Amino acid sequence: MSGALLQVRDLQVDYAGNRAVDVRTLSVSRGEMVGVVGANGAGKSTLVNALIGWSRGDPVVRGEVELAGQPIATWSSHERVRAGLALVPEGRLVFGRMTVEDNLTTTFVPRATAGQRIYSRDDIFELFPRLLERRQHLGSQLSGGERQMLGIGRALMMGPQLLLLDEPSIGLAPMLVSQVLQTLRKLAASGLAILLVEQNVRAALEVVDRLVLLERGRVVLEGPAAQMGSDPRIAQAYLGAHA
Ligand SMILES: Nc1ncnc2c1ncn2[C@@H]1O[C@H](COP(=O)(O)OP(=O)(O)OP(=O)(O)O)[C@@H](O)[C@H]1O
Ligand SMILES: [Mg+2]
Repeated sequence: MSGALLQVRDLQVDYAGNRAVDVRTLSVSRGEMVGVVGANGAGKSTLVNALIGWSRGDPVVRGEVELAGQPIATWSSHERVRAGLALVPEGRLVFGRMTVEDNLTTTFVPRATAGQRIYSRDDIFELFPRLLERRQHLGSQLSGGERQMLGIGRALMMGPQLLLLDEPSIGLAPMLVSQVLQTLRKLAASGLAILLVEQNVRAALEVVDRLVLLERGRVVLEGPAAQMGSDPRIAQAYLGAHA
């Protein structure tokens, strides 16, 4: 058996008979940061949503998902969050009519279990000093980058062992992209497991340990970041335009 924190086997997600995700194996270990990249519609969001047990539509989900050796595939999202999963979803992340401070107090705080670090509001302010400066601002007044930081902060306050992020860099200025990704790298170095869905392959390659390429819901390529960056399939399709 592998010692991975997250272990996925034969995960399939169908929307009205169309297979959106068909992943044979995927694992993430403690302290490891794994990137998931792929074209629009490749199944990246469907994959992380299936892992947290949530969906936009009404998919049929089959397969095995283990977190720290526990089978969680049949659990509700709420139970998965309690067990140590957290998702920073695509798009709307924060309560617009609440201040930053209040956004960081209303977060559901679970009981700590072994291996789980629960971040306090002050921890989040230390991680993202920008949020401290904006503590009295409303969520709706925040910039895209600040909202993203707040979304990550809220997820960390749930005490995850594994943090799932769906395109945290979307819409951010390049400097902010690397700042957010470097903060995630720091969190991984402290032991958190991270599964990062990212459109910006170049930026992802700078921080992840491993990269997984999804095409039509399948893992078609997977390997250490250094190796994946020089793979012609990645270089041509995902790095070429920026080279
Ligand atoms: N609620 C839904 N109902 C039906 N089909 C869906 C639903 N959500 C996603 N799909 C389909 O599943 C496939 C995967 O979609 P998904 O959103 O996971 O892609 P993605 O890799 O996250 O794309 P993007 O980079 O654009 O965010 C697509 O073909 C999409 O049209
Ligand atoms: Mg998506």
